[in-house]
Amino acid sequence: MEPLLKVDDLRTQFHTDAGLVNVVDGVSLELKKGEILGVVGESGCGKSVTSLSVMQLLPKDISKVASGSITLEGQDILAMSPSRLRKMRGNQISMIFQEPMTSLNPVFKIGDQIMEAIRFHMKISKKEAKVYAIEMLKKVGISRPESVVDEYPHQLSGGMRQRVMIAIAMACEPKILIADEPTTALDVTIQAQILNLMRQLQQEKGTSIMLITHDLGIVAQMCDRVVVMYAGQVVEETDVKSLFKNPKHPYTKGLLASLPQLSGNQNKLKSIPGQVPALDEMPTGCRFAPRCEFRMDECDTSKPNLLNVAENHTCRCYLYQKEEIPS
Ligand SMILES: Nc1ncnc2c1ncn2[C@@H]1O[C@H](COP(=O)(O)OP(=O)(O)OP(=O)(O)O)[C@@H](O)[C@H]1O
Ligand SMILES: [Mg+2]
Repeated sequence: MEPLLKVDDLRTQFHTDAGLVNVVDGVSLELKKGEILGVVGESGCGKSVTSLSVMQLLPKDISKVASGSITLEGQDILAMSPSRLRKMRGNQISMIFQEPMTSLNPVFKIGDQIMEAIRFHMKISKKEAKVYAIEMLKKVGISRPESVVDEYPHQLSGGMRQRVMIAIAMACEPKILIADEPTTALDVTIQAQILNLMRQLQQEKGTSIMLITHDLGIVAQMCDRVVVMYAGQVVEETDVKSLFKNPKHPYTKGLLASLPQLSGNQNKLKSIPGQVPALDEMPTGCRFAPRCEFRMDECDTSKPNLLNVAENHTCRCYLYQKEEIPS
């Protein structure tokens, strides 16, 4: 089946003090209908920039998609006009942003912001939209939604604002929901509630979800497939079961070892030594080599490709050198 969303060899550049750098460097991924794809990796590895590239919401003055392609049901997102993109956002693809504080407009009431999103895509009256907005607020677990619709963002807590953002993103029942760390700022009860809500959306409406998270526990609980990113690249991709049972890339293994539920003992968490390389100091060989316990000579001198290591399982590492992925 043709994927709903296809990102192919995406390269996104930023102008920084150190010059022009590839923040996302050759990322390919696919989102199929009705699946939940997890995107994991440490801070700064390009998860948000990948999703902002898909939404065409990169800061234009300092960044651009330099090469690659992004298609939505076969249509080239990179070639869409601004008005076509506005229609796409919210209706076909919605995004829950990592920073809820910055994504609500402080001068408009909560209800008006949800209603605006609804009425842009659905032909319904203002009155009906308000009823629907209240219903959406209720769905994301906001108590007294009838009063919250008439409040301003500053009157709500961070967690409530995040839930309003989720209500807006889900309001038009998009085909694809990109959720960038949707629950990081929320307490565990609310977090569970939001994750349930996303799963419900996926099960009832067949929504495809790209779930970006640091939390492998959430991945285990929610996702069908997982893409592991490191320093702007995909280093491993497989179904969620294989990732946890049979991780291949040393980076993935490191991430799993630092997960309390899996290692069993909270006090003996292993964290991966070292840090993600700076954008202007990328190693010439494997980007993970400086931190890797399995590092070999060739890892420092040449760049590993993303290869098939098992069925539906790819990995970018010299420990596994089987056939090239068919393109
Ligand atoms: N507006 C910006 N200006 C300059 N550099 C940026 C900007 N946005 C992102 N970057 C750089 O791009 C790289 C990737 O950032 P990105 O936000 O995609 O990471 P991430 O994987 O989402 O991290 P996190 O888990 O912290 O959200 C980082 O090195 C970051 O410094
Ligand atoms: Mg991010």
